[in-house]
Amino acid sequence: MENIIFIAPPAAGKGTQSVKIKDAYHLAHISTGDLLRAATKENTPEGLLIRNLMESGGLVSDEITEGLLLKRLAEQDCDNGYILDGFPRNIKQAHDYQELLKKLNKDVGVVIYLALDKEIARKRIVGRESCANCGAMYNNMIDTMKPKVAGICDKCGNPLSKRSDDNDATFEHRYDTYLKETEPLLEFYKQLGVLETVDSNQDADKVFSDIVKILDRRKKWLI
Ligand code: AP5
Repeated sequence: MENIIFIAPPAAGKGTQSVKIKDAYHLAHISTGDLLRAATKENTPEGLLIRNLMESGGLVSDEITEGLLLKRLAEQDCDNGYILDGFPRNIKQAHDYQELLKKLNKDVGVVIYLALDKEIARKRIVGRESCANCGAMYNNMIDTMKPKVAGICDKCGNPLSKRSDDNDATFEHRYDTYLKETEPLLEFYKQLGVLETVDSNQDADKVFSDIVKILDRRKKWLI
């Protein structure tokens, strides 16, 4: 199995598509945003520092993020392939990850750019709700993404929650950070010949079927 990296602006659907791919292809889903959010729950100076950075819309340090990622990659469910949702996020992280792959004698896999217009991203951020129990994602502003019962997860019945960084002011900073730090990765992975692009302005099922076409074309997914 090969691995998948998502590069995308905020709210482009990295989390939504990762859950669909995880279910269909039995890959581990690694969200650095989720790993960092879990770290903020620890009542430590580092947890507080991470929370402040995330709520400002800036990036957490490479050292902290990569430390959490390395621990997660060592877990057994990553042995059969994984989806990186939110990593790498800048050129330094991309170089560090290439070094790691070299040591492990592994290929980078496929990098999928989820392209999304800024104003659609803003709408998706404001309406987002997610299930802390199973990871399912909803949006109370978009008809096709609403849960059947407001505020309740369709899959497991858990109450849905909102993220503290999902507001208009933080969105602007997150988007600027994306343009400055993360968008240059598109050229980096284009040069490596592993970049694919999907139009994420479409509805979530159409985005997923475009991703499936890419994965099936690569034929490395057949067991
Ligand atoms: P992270 O959690 O990664 O946030 P993000 O990149 O801003 O991305 P989002 O999670 O907001 O969006 P998404 O693309 O997953 O979209 P989703 O599927 O949820 O990072 C948060 C913070 O952590 C960062 O700001 C940074 O501080 C820190 N961080 C994380 N990684 C880091 C790293 N590597 N280095 C340093 N710092 C790091 O969808 C969004 C909404 O839209 C949902 O409501 C969903 O239902 C809806 N939706 C999705 N797809 C569609 C569709 N096709 N049509 C209609 N609605 C849709």
